Amino acid sequence: MQKFEIVLERLNEDQVLSVARQLARCLRPGDILLLSGEIGAGKTTFTRGLVEGLGGDSGVVTSPTFTLLNVYNCRETVYHVDAYRLGSIEEAFYVIEGELELGEGIFVIEWGERIKELFDENLIVVELRHVDSTHRDVIVTANNVLGDRVRRCFEGAKEK
Ligand SMILES: Nc1ncnc2c1ncn2[C@@H]1O[C@H](COP(=O)(O)OP(=O)(O)O)[C@@H](O)[C@H]1O
Ligand SMILES: [Mg+2]
Repeated sequence: MQKFEIVLERLNEDQVLSVARQLARCLRPGDILLLSGEIGAGKTTFTRGLVEGLGGDSGVVTSPTFTLLNVYNCRETVYHVDAYRLGSIEEAFYVIEGELELGEGIFVIEWGERIKELFDENLIVVELRHVDSTHRDVIVTANNVLGDRVRRCFEGAKEK
C-alpha cells in the first residue's frame, strides 16, 4: 500500500473534466473526496466531470455554497458539500455524518481541507491551482488502499 500522487500541469477545462471522469471510474460508495483550491479554481467544474463519469447529468451540478449540500442521482449517489460556510467542525460533522448514515454515497467536499480533521486518512484529495484564466494544475493524492485503487485508475492515462 502506497501513497499515490499525480501532478497534471496546465490543463484546460476539457482536460480537467476528463481527469474528473477518469477518477470517477474508480470511486466506490463511502469514498470521500476533498476538493481544495481558491474561488474559481474549478472545484464545482471538477464535480461536473465526476458526476458525468458516474453516469449522472452534469447539468444539474451547481455550487452548494448556499444549500451546503446537493445530492445527485448517479450510478452511486453523490453528496456535494461546501465546507466553506459550515460554521464549525461540529456543523460539518452533523451535515456529513447524517447523510453518511442515510446512504452510502460518494462525498465530494469543496473547501474540504478546512474540515480534514473530521476524517481519517482514507481520503482522496484533489487540489486545483489557478495557472491562468483557462488553465489549472490538478494534483490528486490518496493514501493506503485508496492510493492503490486511484493509481490503477490513472495508469496508462498519463502517457496519452
Ligand atoms: N482549466 C480549467 N479548469 C476548470 N475551470 C476552468 C478552467 N479554465 C477556465 N475555467 C473556468 O473557471 C471557472 C471555475 O469555476 P468553479 O468550477 O465554479 O470554481 P470553484 O468551484 O473552485 O469556485 C469556471 O467558470 C470555468 O469555466
Ligand atoms: Mg464551487
